[in-house]
Amino acid sequence: MERLQKVIANSGFCSRRKAEEYIKQGKVYVNNQKVTEMGSKVSYEDEIEVDGVNITSKEEKEYYLLYKPEKTISSVKDEKNRQTVLDLIPTKARIYPVGRLDYNTTGLLLLTNDGNLTNILTHPSHQVEKIYLAKVEGVVTPEEFMRLKKGITVENRKVIPTYVKIKKTNKESNTTSLLIGIVEGRNHIVKKLMQQLNHPVIKLKRETYAFLTLEGLRPGQARKLSIKEVKKLYALK
Ligand code: URA
Repeated sequence: MERLQKVIANSGFCSRRKAEEYIKQGKVYVNNQKVTEMGSKVSYEDEIEVDGVNITSKEEKEYYLLYKPEKTISSVKDEKNRQTVLDLIPTKARIYPVGRLDYNTTGLLLLTNDGNLTNILTHPSHQVEKIYLAKVEGVVTPEEFMRLKKGITVENRKVIPTYVKIKKTNKESNTTSLLIGIVEGRNHIVKKLMQQLNHPVIKLKRETYAFLTLEGLRPGQARKLSIKEVKKLYALK
């Protein structure tokens, strides 16, 4: 059982905040009963209608791994009509991204219409590791490297990377390329982390998501996950 607003958001229909508004406005029905109570719990089997749209259609589950290119929005639609990650996937299913990558961040992004799996992967207790390759301004010193390894407080919560490795320092261009492993899912977390260290991110790419990599894909290309991979993702619970 999950909170109603979370199940609505996980369906990709709208954000959690927007879902809360719909609930308050009496525009949400669960199994044909109006629900206005915010904490209500539902299961992924319940029939849910939001603003006249049944968001729990029983369509086949689909799972994609996309190599997100730059200048692409990680959402289902964009009010400024910019390219979205959905434009890159040839399907009619109502899939949506699992978490987000920033407009200019490239790399591995999962998309699915399986709210149950999304919930497992994005739940803070499940600690799914993502490894990012970040190019940052300035040369990261050994002291700063140690600070980063030990963890840095970002907006009152400590972030301890699961993995940190300097790949290259370039004194001429005054930049450093490093790999950073993160389990949490706060928006812009790598940029905020490196900003705290006074090394703003210039370029960011997500290289891995749990055991998944970008192998065999070029920017803009996607592939379906195998059943074995989907099962392995479920097993992260
Ligand atoms: N952290 C960021 O700062 N941006 C992303 O796109 C992903 C993680």
